[in-house]
Amino acid sequence: MGSGGREHALAWRLVQSGGVKAYAAPGNPGIASVATCLPVAPTDATALASIAADLRIDLTVVGPEAPLAAGLADVFAARGLRVFGPTAAAAQIEASKVFAKSLMRRWQIPTADFEVFDGAEEALAYLRRARGPVVVKADGLAAGKGVVVAHTVDEAETAVADLMVRRVHGPAGARVVIEECLQGEEASVLALVCGERVWPLVPARDYKRAGDGDCGSNTGGMGAIAPAPMADGVHQQIAEMLERVAAGMVREGRPYAGVLYAGIMVTADGPKVLEFNCRFGDPEAQVILPLLEGDLTGAMLDTLEARRPSLRWRDAAAACVVLASGGYPGSYHTGCVINGLASPPADALVFHAGTATRDGQLITAGGRVLNVVGLGPTLDQARERAYAGVSRITFDGMQYRTDIGGRSQATDRRTAVLVSEEAQSHA
Ligand code: AMP
Ligand code: GLY
Repeated sequence: MGSGGREHALAWRLVQSGGVKAYAAPGNPGIASVATCLPVAPTDATALASIAADLRIDLTVVGPEAPLAAGLADVFAARGLRVFGPTAAAAQIEASKVFAKSLMRRWQIPTADFEVFDGAEEALAYLRRARGPVVVKADGLAAGKGVVVAHTVDEAETAVADLMVRRVHGPAGARVVIEECLQGEEASVLALVCGERVWPLVPARDYKRAGDGDCGSNTGGMGAIAPAPMADGVHQQIAEMLERVAAGMVREGRPYAGVLYAGIMVTADGPKVLEFNCRFGDPEAQVILPLLEGDLTGAMLDTLEARRPSLRWRDAAAACVVLASGGYPGSYHTGCVINGLASPPADALVFHAGTATRDGQLITAGGRVLNVVGLGPTLDQARERAYAGVSRITFDGMQYRTDIGGRSQATDRRTAVLVSEEAQSHA
């Protein structure tokens, strides 16, 4: 279920399992090459359950969070249909930041210090007392736009007023979390989960800012890499955090099933959880799934039976570059003709996100349009192959980041410190 690049990667990988025939609701032109697309919105759970029953679907895989938060897995389960994705009660881990933060507090999962506010007055009073930069978060789902990293008190006050008074994200802003701003490098660690059992996938990293060097506005994600070097050395600690949270959810009567995504900040005090998501990341799925060897459908079915899935990883790296419409994440045009997709280079994959067809031509139909994924023995080679693929594709206004998988500024800073220490020891 779904229509983005994540769902194209999922569908592409699921049909590689022997004997799988796939349907997508609603899908996109890329997904149409591997699955039969059905024109039904992923939020219409009742209609979808009837279709799944009629088609005798063995396994339903849900891409986005909204249908899960709205209870699609519950509706399917009530009709005896198997779903890879959590119930509405368990999806609260993404749908309510207040729930997620208090869950972490109850089960001692390292996270940023925080307070919850139900009214703008108290939130603003708190900001006047707070020291240092803070992050203001809407409690509810806001399509990734409900988080403001505020560098000044002014910015934080504006964020509170936008969320709680002007209600720019509607009821999602009725409550807010204000938390300490963490410093470090981010990683996305996803795991297959059934009840207390947790099987982590290869760690990934996404690039959330629109511009090179992590400048500009937050987006849904402008690229991703896997494996993520920033998780080296702390992967086991993060896996234990996921195990604690899964066990906590069982104890609290909301057992989790599906893929659980932890957004992590690797700080000087160790890894801390920024957020949980109740689904695969987009574009993290586009780099994780091509590195998985073997049978994804079987791995999901095993997970749902609480049997250890067979997860073998290619000894390789993947880099994904998102091609976006000019102006994204602000306003942008759609309907531009896309050229150059006929001949992707070897070792590159193209997943469709916001595309459509018009008179037999492929056109743009969203903010994030295409995902070009390069695979190679090293991250450098994966990146080169991704950008070689990008260079063949054109559409009016096309924009993308040129530094996906390149050296981060943090790495440059560390190198600079090492160099100056070396310079001193020679002096
Ligand atoms: P979230 O939706 O909670 O993951 O927040 C979106 C993005 O905001 C994260 O990926 C981080 O880049 C940033 N962010 C969220 N919380 C914090 C925090 N406590 N400190 C620093 N950055 C944060
Ligand atoms: N790439 C971030 C997310 O899927 O939430």
